[in-house]
Amino acid sequence: MANRKKIGLIGAGNIGGELARLCANAELGDVVLFDIPAKENFAKGKALDLEQNGSVLGYDAKITGSGNWADLEGADVLIVTAGIPRKPGQSRDDLVAVNLPIIRDVAQNAKKHCPSAFVIVISNPLDAMVYEYKRVTGCPKGMIVGMAGVLDSARFQLFLAREAGVSIKDVRAMVLGGHGDDMVPVLSMCTINSIPATNFIPVERMNAIIDRTRKGGGEIVNLMGTSAYYAPASSAVAMATAYLHDQKRLLPCAAYLEGEYGYQDLFIGVPAIIGGKGVEKIVELPLTAEEKGMLAKSAKSVQSVVDVCKKS
Ligand code: APR
Repeated sequence: MANRKKIGLIGAGNIGGELARLCANAELGDVVLFDIPAKENFAKGKALDLEQNGSVLGYDAKITGSGNWADLEGADVLIVTAGIPRKPGQSRDDLVAVNLPIIRDVAQNAKKHCPSAFVIVISNPLDAMVYEYKRVTGCPKGMIVGMAGVLDSARFQLFLAREAGVSIKDVRAMVLGGHGDDMVPVLSMCTINSIPATNFIPVERMNAIIDRTRKGGGEIVNLMGTSAYYAPASSAVAMATAYLHDQKRLLPCAAYLEGEYGYQDLFIGVPAIIGGKGVEKIVELPLTAEEKGMLAKSAKSVQSVVDVCKKS
């Protein structure tokens, strides 16, 4: 069906499979689930299982497994999870050596086969991998983002909701900065149905929640032996939907900065409006001095990983 959107998922592992399920279930478009030749049959099997799932649930989406980049030709959206996930004891930055050649391989192929796609990178270390993808492809800054802030904010919101004893639906909070232990939960903007969250939660509990949010990915890695996939996939699908449906959603994303927040030539988590043109605007918030300081620390850690990539 020529009118359907095409969504390419690069990496058919844990996050890739969940992405395919969510995209198909929401009938966002037809899905190509891509992996390396050694995993091509695995991707094909997952795709077939998901098409059969559609027959039960009643969604119309074609899902194809592939190890051939030609099948991604003309994709409207690419979501990249290619890479190795963390194991217990590893930080995201520990993955740079192993995931750098993978993101370069993906970027070179994507540049050739799907140059006009809106790209969402999930592979870690996130902020450096999305930087590298842009550097290799030279794609416009509005057409590429990293997924981290929606997920980190979701974790923060959950912990706040549980602590305050309120519905998750009423909590609004944002996490900015890099997708690492220095990420910046923006306490000054955290509300429960527009009431400051600090009215509900004492400062020492708030500090514990911030700490748990920063280590939220690692908590799951320690429990499961690998990294999370349900919430990461949902977060990326929210971003893809904002683009495909021109929703103009304001979401925290790793976006390319050219002076915003005082940073140049760096991807880092900031609030951005995502609509049909991609990243349509970066929103600059009046952060407190303490938050600005935390953002500077986080940007410095991201820059150090980017510098490692530039030298390799
Ligand atoms: N091209 C395409 N796919 C690749 C490539 C490549 N060059 N290299 C590896 N892959 C595939 C793997 O074969 C595997 O199927 O990427 C998939 C990754 O799947 P999982 O190992 O299940 O990892 P997942 O949990 O999905 O996480 C993927 O996202 O959150 C990050 O830290 C996480 O970097 C990791 C990535």
